[in-house]
Amino acid sequence: RILILDYGSQVTQLIARRVREAGVYCELHPGDVSDAFLLEQKANGLKGIILSGSHLSAYDEDALKVPPAVFEQGVPVLGICYGMQAMAMHFGGEVTHAHHREFGYAEVRARGHTKLFDGIEDFSTPEGHGMLKVWMSHGDQVTRLPDGFKLMASTPSCPIAGMADETRLFYGVQFHPEVTHTVQGQAMLTRFVRDICGCHADWNMPDYVDEAVAKIREQVGSDHVILGLSGGVDSSVAAALIHKAVGDQLTCVFVDHGLLRLNEADQVMSTFAEHMGVKVIHVDATDDFMGKLDGVTDPEAKRKIIGKEFVEVFQREASKIDNAKWLAQGTIYPDVIESAGAKTGKAVSIKSHHNVGGLPETLNLKLLEPLRELFKDEVRKLGIALGLPTEMVYRHPFPGPGLGVRILGAVNKQFADWLREADAIFIDELRNTIDPDTNQSWYDLTSQAFAVFLPVKSVGVMGDGRTYEYVVALRAVQTSDFMTADWAPLPHQLLSKVSSRIINEVKGINRVVYDVSTKPPATIEWE
Ligand code: XMP
Repeated sequence: RILILDYGSQVTQLIARRVREAGVYCELHPGDVSDAFLLEQKANGLKGIILSGSHLSAYDEDALKVPPAVFEQGVPVLGICYGMQAMAMHFGGEVTHAHHREFGYAEVRARGHTKLFDGIEDFSTPEGHGMLKVWMSHGDQVTRLPDGFKLMASTPSCPIAGMADETRLFYGVQFHPEVTHTVQGQAMLTRFVRDICGCHADWNMPDYVDEAVAKIREQVGSDHVILGLSGGVDSSVAAALIHKAVGDQLTCVFVDHGLLRLNEADQVMSTFAEHMGVKVIHVDATDDFMGKLDGVTDPEAKRKIIGKEFVEVFQREASKIDNAKWLAQGTIYPDVIESAGAKTGKAVSIKSHHNVGGLPETLNLKLLEPLRELFKDEVRKLGIALGLPTEMVYRHPFPGPGLGVRILGAVNKQFADWLREADAIFIDELRNTIDPDTNQSWYDLTSQAFAVFLPVKSVGVMGDGRTYEYVVALRAVQTSDFMTADWAPLPHQLLSKVSSRIINEVKGINRVVYDVSTKPPATIEWE
């Protein structure tokens, strides 16, 4: 395994992604690990360490320091950006504030012959120098090599852009191999973890399923497990995996708050209960939720009510299940890293996404989180390996409060029914419209798409009559991280078809508009 130590760069998670893409298992931990922790990792097959970048300077007082023991484990170390600078300082080199801040694309000349770069280049100069197209982001740089290190790469403004000590297998690069803008980045990281550290490419899904199943069996024994199934990807995959491991010892509770997508409850029940034979308690709590939401218009108040009611309903059902000892959650790796916090690394809080945070204590249950080590796309691959339908596994994300935050202002069942129909038409057309350039459907070309109900009436004309009905807004965005997003450039024909279908097929709607706001300043959801 590879250990990645995080010093607070924005892109540390990408290092883990790349290492896993090389087929090697890795873990990401805050940079200030203890000597005891390193010893434990060593005992568990540690083969190499990667030090991430940071937003701080290596000579900054507040910067998280690289523990000296990192260099004493007898395993190769790769320092990236800040990681390289910290390595240089540790071994007596010099780091100073650069005259030229480098940010973005750069061409780096590979120097000498190193195992890390051997045979890896983007082009060569007429003089025969191997060149690499990379992405740089730094204000500091190494200005004197430490003893025992040789120059591995340079740019005109950053003479020491890479360094290597090939006896101890310590490498440093000033640029970021983990981002895709560094064209050979994956090749370099693969070279480091596989050839230099000697890891085998044995991180693959079918093996992982067997491993995970064995681990769950060992953890759970003959106890009973409860899981809140939402229909979303994470809880669905967790349910399928745990069911494979312990079968009937798993009971899922599926709370329908009446704010789900069209036919969602039926799909969940048919996939899990009918096809897979999972025990699922289906609670139709629509009336409870609608009652509690009656007349409430403030978005945060609505979120709180839905969250609180969810916990109550879930708790009521869960307490009926005899001898349950475990509460399973679909927590995934990004949730773990996010809540651990790059700096403190102490408090690992639990995902509150499915509104069951705090439940393990009240119910006196132990937490079972079988997806904790996986990234989203790995969760999807696992879902496929477990036989879940592609449509479910590659579904757009859906917020916990559901249509509750897509019906602006006060929520009622009629508005929810109209919105559900309009949304289903939109999604249906997105799935059915193939983009000729990419040969993909517009559903797959968008990250999230949905309809929003606006409680505003406008005048229309239908046949010979005047209408006075509500408005639906369509929202479709493209994003890689949901922190920023662009509105999707949907083809006019598609928009036109969706609009006419909604107005003709959904009774209470006579006008459809398309949302052309980016995030920021708008958010993806309207509330
Ligand atoms: P925003 O609207 O903040 O959405 O740009 C970013 C992503 O988060 C989802 N979202 C939520 N998910 N509970 C959730 O589980 C919520 O209250 C919630 N609010 C927003 C949203 O759907 C988008 O994917």
